[in-house]
This record gives sequence, structure tokens and C-alpha cells, in this order.
Amino acid sequence: MADNPVETHYTRDDLGQRILAALKAAGKDLGQLPATVRLAELVGFAGMERVLDVGSGLGGPSRYLAWRFGCRVSGVDLTAEFVRVAEMLTRLTGLVDKVDYRQGNALDLPFEDMSFDIVWSQNAAMNIADRDRLYAEMRRVLKPGGKLALQEVAAGPGGPPQYPVPWAREPRISFLFTPEATREMLEAAGFRGLDWQDTTEPSLEAARRRAQAAEAPAPLGTHVILGPDWQAMAKNSLRNLEEHRVTLFNAVLERVR
Ligand SMILES: C[S@@+](CC[C@H](N)C(=O)[O-])C[C@H]1O[C@@H](n2cnc3c(N)ncnc32)[C@H](O)[C@@H]1O
Repeated sequence: MADNPVETHYTRDDLGQRILAALKAAGKDLGQLPATVRLAELVGFAGMERVLDVGSGLGGPSRYLAWRFGCRVSGVDLTAEFVRVAEMLTRLTGLVDKVDYRQGNALDLPFEDMSFDIVWSQNAAMNIADRDRLYAEMRRVLKPGGKLALQEVAAGPGGPPQYPVPWAREPRISFLFTPEATREMLEAAGFRGLDWQDTTEPSLEAARRRAQAAEAPAPLGTHVILGPDWQAMAKNSLRNLEEHRVTLFNAVLERVR
């Protein structure tokens, strides 16, 4: 409870949640924010951490982490246009003191060894075939004892995904591994699993909402980012989950050596 009357006047409990609910009711697609919130809860941020977001995209997760916990976040992404837009949105949201971006390849991270307390990556590994190299690079830039937070799409038992999906229009740039194989590669790279959550169920609900929204798009939504085949992507995302062609997981691991 706020202790001065002006602050009391302006304070509404759970304002953030109320705004998110109102945006959702207005048909605004909030993208992967719930997935980001879930992964952040699994990590348990204190706020002083130095964080690297690998495959940072337009910067939603990195801005959320800086805004919510106050940590300092660097993002790295292969796509120059995404880096430019991430910088623009970060300027507009007043977070430039906390978040920076650079273009680079996750397979050759442009950072010194042991620079970060936390390496974070959401929905980026499925574009990357050489997972041994990816996880080795993530380990290299982490301090010993540092944490790796991953949200990934994994291969399911139901056969290959139907394309297009949001991360690939065709199989050529899509590389999915089962959760078990992913875990083995992470352990071989020098990580120990602390938490591993199958997030297929909550993602299925979000995918249903998105496939429905694709029938009558709101002005602001992922279609702005994904391009003309976004409706097919939304439908396939749902179908791939329903038919167990893909599963999703959140994982927090620790650098052990
Ligand atoms: C589906 S987007 C996810 C973006 C962001 N993590 C998010 O959750 O909003 C995948 C991102 O991974 C990036 N990416 C793919 N391969 C990469 C690589 N080898 N190195 C760095 N970024 C890569 C893409 O450019 C794209 O921005």
C-alpha cells in the first residue's frame, strides 16, 4: 500500500495485469509475453544480473526483463532489421540505459568469455542446426555457476511439422530435436539441468487464441512481423501442437565447468 495520498490516488493494484487483460480484450496480440513471464519465474531474477538474450528478435523479452527486474540486458540477433527495430522500440520505451542490441551470430557470440550471469534464449534455437556449437558458445560467455534459460520448440513424436511456421517457411531453416536429445547435448556442453518444464499445454491455448484471431485480425498483431502467410503460420502452429508434431519446453540450467 502506498503511504502518501497522491501515490494512493494513482495506485491501482495489479495495474500491469489490468493493462495486459485490457489489451487482450481489445484484440491486441501480445505475442509470447506469457511465455517470457513463465521462463522469468523459473529463473528467479534478483535484478542485479547481467543478461544476454540470444536471438533477441524485436527485443520483447529483453525489454521485459530490464523493465520488470531492472537487470542490464544485451541482445544479439542475426537479422539486422530486427536489431534496428529492437533499438527503435527500446528508445521509444525509454530503456536504452538498460538494454542494448548488436547484430551477430549465436554460433560466434561477439562477447568475452564469462561475461554474463544469465544467458537467455526464446524461440531461436530451432533455426540453428549446430546445437553443439550453440550451447558451447552460450556456456563460454556465461560465468561459472551462471544460468542458461531456454524456451524452445522441440520435435514431437507425431512426425515433422507442417510448414510454414513462424520460424520457417520451409524445412531448410528448421532444425528440431527431441527434448531428450536437446538435454543430452546441453549436458555434453557443460550444463546441469535445474528445472525442465513441458510448456506444450499453455502454448496450445495461446496457439488456439492466435489461430482464432487470424480469422479477424486486429490492426496490431504478429502479422505485422510475419508477413503475408501469417494466417497459414498461425493455423500450422496450432495443428503442429495438436498433432504432437512439436512440443515446447522451458529449461533452466547451470554452467557446471
Ligand atoms: C522466432 S524469432 C524469436 C525472437 C525473440 N527471441 C522472441 O522471442 O521474441 C527467432 C530469432 O532468432 C534469430 N536467429 C536465428 N538464427 C540465429 C543465429 N544463428 N544467431 C543469432 N540469431 C539468430 C532470428 O534472426 C530471429 O530474430
